[in-house]
Amino acid sequence: MRKKLLLGNWKMNKTPSEAKEFALGSKDMVEYAISHGIDVGVAPTFVCLQTVKENADPRLIVSAQNCNEHDHGAYTGEISIPMLQELGIDWVILGHSERREYNGETSEKCNEKIKALLAAKMHPVYCCGESEATFEKGETKKWVAEQIRVGLDGLTPEEAKEVVIAYEPIWAIGTGKSATKEIAEDTIGFIRRTLREMFGPVAADIRILYGGSVKPNNIAEYMSEEDIDGALVGGASLALDSYKGLIEGLVG
Ligand code: 13P
Repeated sequence: MRKKLLLGNWKMNKTPSEAKEFALGSKDMVEYAISHGIDVGVAPTFVCLQTVKENADPRLIVSAQNCNEHDHGAYTGEISIPMLQELGIDWVILGHSERREYNGETSEKCNEKIKALLAAKMHPVYCCGESEATFEKGETKKWVAEQIRVGLDGLTPEEAKEVVIAYEPIWAIGTGKSATKEIAEDTIGFIRRTLREMFGPVAADIRILYGGSVKPNNIAEYMSEEDIDGALVGGASLALDSYKGLIEGLVG
């Protein structure tokens, strides 16, 4: 039985004081989510990680939005895994479409980072998803399969089990044009079958999230689908009220 997961991706939003306010105000809702068997988390910017970690319920997952695959060295502007570990951060989002587009993050690079995270006993959240043009050409599955095969190449089944996948169609991100639950389930079911081909029966244990214009009023629809295990949420994860609405929708 896969545990449901709600992860808020704050992207480049919230200053440290705003992040602290959210952390302090989120305690009751984290308690509510945990008591209903749901994992909840947020992914603040690097400069907000420490304050969220220090001020939130310790059971709130606090994830970084990226990391470097090297432990240290001459990589100006980068953040390493040991730096995150010292703050108690053990989750990292990788391969988000915005990082692929604006920062040249490739599936090959994500593969290196995923291996480094797994070696450090951390939890990668690996994002995949197609552009509107790819969707309209009917090539979503081919595109996503390639991202999954390259991103998770060389992992053992035991390692693959530790990865969370997030399917986020680019055309649904921040547009208000969410994928229907049928489209989301169709692609996510396909991702699970691809994982089964790669890793065997553990595919049934791998959590796969949907992301793209998920809101308090539509999250429950996705959760009714067999292969969808939760959501990676941008805009609607920023305000406490809305985040609470997402948890309530997930609890059902
Ligand atoms: P929105 O929920 O704002 O569409 O963003 C989705 C996303 O990119 C989460 O990573």
